[in-house]
Amino acid sequence: MDSPSPTRPPLRHVLSSAQFDRPFLDYLVTLTTTIRRFDKSREGMVYLQSLLAHKRAMLYFTQPSTRTFLSFQSACHILGITASEIRDASTSSERKGESVEDSLRTFSSYVDLIIMRSPIPRLCERIATMLDETPRPVPIINAGSGPDEHPTQALLDIYTLSRSLRLEGGIEGKTICMVGDLKRGRTVRSLARLLINYPGVKILFASPPAFRIEEDLRADLKAANVDFEETTAFESAIAAADAIYMTRIQDEYDAPGAVRSDDHSAYHLTAGHLPQLKKSCAILHPLPRRNELDPAIDQDPRAKYWRQERNGMWVRVALLTILCGIDDRVQLPEL
Ligand code: CP
Repeated sequence: MDSPSPTRPPLRHVLSSAQFDRPFLDYLVTLTTTIRRFDKSREGMVYLQSLLAHKRAMLYFTQPSTRTFLSFQSACHILGITASEIRDASTSSERKGESVEDSLRTFSSYVDLIIMRSPIPRLCERIATMLDETPRPVPIINAGSGPDEHPTQALLDIYTLSRSLRLEGGIEGKTICMVGDLKRGRTVRSLARLLINYPGVKILFASPPAFRIEEDLRADLKAANVDFEETTAFESAIAAADAIYMTRIQDEYDAPGAVRSDDHSAYHLTAGHLPQLKKSCAILHPLPRRNELDPAIDQDPRAKYWRQERNGMWVRVALLTILCGIDDRVQLPEL
């Protein structure tokens, strides 16, 4: 199995996709594929459940989530981790005026790991720094931080791209087209930063002018010499792509009371576009979707988004084994 450098420091927190390099990504992809094979037998699943039965995790999600929450919860169950949850700060003592810092420090008194989604950008970094100075510096996993980052989504996207493009030689040298709200789409920001690790990748950012990528991402891509283009020419971009990454308009970040009447249908992927796409093109979407991705595409073999969300559970299992330092115990010959 590809293994991370022996000099690599142990994974402490998962805060930003910028913390991952290519050896780590290759190792995670291989480890995830290995772990998925445990699912093929009862003995395999019982073995996985025995690995972390002594650990407890907190799922603190104060922004809505379906698949990130459920896939992390399922990943905990698969590894035997007992998972507690808060899904609405109004049901916690934050309602009584407790600060978010004190709430998270309280969780660290009871659990070994905190997985958190928050509308507040960089809150995870702040909490990780704070906890690192306490007697219980439990690891923090960023499960989505406002419009800023969603690093574990980017890891599962890399896994899905690696698997989907493996017959075409993998991600290196491929053209990846990202579509939609590229300004506020945290999955786009985190994935684009991971793509820096794949030489020869070209990124086509296709979006309405109001939703172009932010300057910090543009600067990071330039500094890393990534070949990228920002375009409004949706149809020619998708026709050139080896993979298309669709995203929805993130209107939860609109100013309060804002009424948007703009029409983004020129950036919707429909069944009518399928004949224009490459035969091996992989179509991804972090989901949930609205009307930017036609359900009529779901049956096309190039549609990878349902597989992508299931991959998310296994990538998160693999990540938890690394974070808890037991990835060396996930080897099939033991079965
Ligand atoms: N992709 C993603 O983060 O989905 P949820 O918001 O449903 O967790």
